[in-house]
Amino acid sequence: MPRGLLVLIEGLDRTGKSTQAAKLVESLNNNARLVKFPDRTTPIGKLINQYLVESETQLMDQAIHLLFSANRWEVAETIRATLLEGRTVVMDRFVYSGIAYSAAKSVPGMDLQWCAQPDKGLLKPDLTFFLSNSQTEQRAGFGDERYESSSFQSKVRQEFEIIFNTFESPDYIKNHMVFLTTTGKTIDEVHVMIDSALKKFIQKGIYNEDFMYF
Ligand code: TMP
Repeated sequence: MPRGLLVLIEGLDRTGKSTQAAKLVESLNNNARLVKFPDRTTPIGKLINQYLVESETQLMDQAIHLLFSANRWEVAETIRATLLEGRTVVMDRFVYSGIAYSAAKSVPGMDLQWCAQPDKGLLKPDLTFFLSNSQTEQRAGFGDERYESSSFQSKVRQEFEIIFNTFESPDYIKNHMVFLTTTGKTIDEVHVMIDSALKKFIQKGIYNEDFMYF
């Protein structure tokens, strides 16, 4: 039995990632599994949630970075097992968010290589959708969580671009990544773009049975 596809919906805040990830799973007749990061339900995830929602919760930037990564490692085996069952896994955020948000803090010593290290060995998505929007649209939707400010988000925006150019080859970017802007588009319009890009990817037959790794 062929393994399932590992699909990632990544991107900036307020671009509708979670909505699109859920819609994609639904359109795959629920045979796909949705995995959201951070997974706030695990013991590590609960700590992460507390850090995100309570500004008085203090953690070293290095410590919270490692917790986000540990939160991915917690479900790494489950993801692999699901793929081996032939089911598609759709992730809502993953390693790229982990590096981008931490690197955007500009903490001395926490450079891109430092930030990328703890996630080395995790499965790399077969196909990543990167969603972006205009800064005006993004600003209108900010909530109260840590990181939800215009100045920080514009740093995150830059970090994502640097990360793709630093860690991914032109070949990987061309064949395994799809960049979409959601500005002015309805949920359904974005879903149609994602759905058709996924179908095209499958038709091209680029992915093989071997897993790729960060
Ligand atoms: P969410 O809004 O998608 O639930 O993500 C929560 C916040 O956590 C968001 O601001 C992005 C940030 N984040 C990190 O800083 N590191 C990570 O590894 C992940 C997955 C998210």
